[in-house]
Amino acid sequence: MLKSGKDEIKADRSCLPNHVGIIMDGNGRWAKKRGLPRTAGHAVGVKVFKKIVFYAKDMGLKNLTVYAFSAENWKRPEREINRIMQLLDQMLDEALDDFMNQKVRIRFLGDRSRLGQKLLEKMELVTNLTAQFSDTTLYIALNYGGRQEIVSAARKIALDLKNGLITEDDITEENFGKYLYYDDLESVDLIIRPSGEQRLSNFLLWQAAYAEFWYSDVLWPDFTPGHLEQAIYDYQLRNRRFGGI
Ligand code: IPE
Ligand code: IPE
Ligand code: MG
Repeated sequence: MLKSGKDEIKADRSCLPNHVGIIMDGNGRWAKKRGLPRTAGHAVGVKVFKKIVFYAKDMGLKNLTVYAFSAENWKRPEREINRIMQLLDQMLDEALDDFMNQKVRIRFLGDRSRLGQKLLEKMELVTNLTAQFSDTTLYIALNYGGRQEIVSAARKIALDLKNGLITEDDITEENFGKYLYYDDLESVDLIIRPSGEQRLSNFLLWQAAYAEFWYSDVLWPDFTPGHLEQAIYDYQLRNRRFGGI
């Protein structure tokens, strides 16, 4: 364990997880506790997201996936959905320079068909402008569902099979992964979920087969770099066996 001046826990930079996923949950409850509308929680949540992304980059994390909006979140009131989309749109404007300066590659994970044209164009722009960077990749899961991702892969495979591009024997675990949203998105090593919930909520189902979980009661707007340090520190103490002994 590395210790900083104030005896805060610091994760060991020499054996960081290759891919960390964060389910950014608890914005609504954070706002409710303060008598504010849920959207106020989302606004603070976006600020925390930016802070954590750049902290993770400074730590040297290679791959970070954040769950920003699930395929099931369309069940929410239209006003809340619109505000979340607007906040994401604004964030992409405001943070683009920082992403470029910090050399963070941005990619989006999810089904694009239900997203607005303006947001889609911005996503495309941010993806293209940061595509050249390779040290840290931030995957923003937006209208993402793990089951939807797997079904979309199955459909692509069915098409390739029908067109004679592959045979049944080509459908292996390794090849299946190539049909997912990104063929090079690696298995997630650690999934962090604040807000007290202990569930996956359809996040990275395929990639999470052997993920370690870290839960905390802290609500996302209260999440700090110290929580990230703690989560990775705890992860580093785990014994990952992958079915072995
Ligand atoms: C997570 O916070 C943000 C999104 C799902 C977009 P919530 O909005 O789910 O907050 P709680 O869980 O209701 O507190
Ligand atoms: C998961 O949180 C999705 C995101 C954080 C974007 P939810 O708040 O939607 O999950 P449930 O409904 O509590 O499972
Ligand atoms: Mg929630």
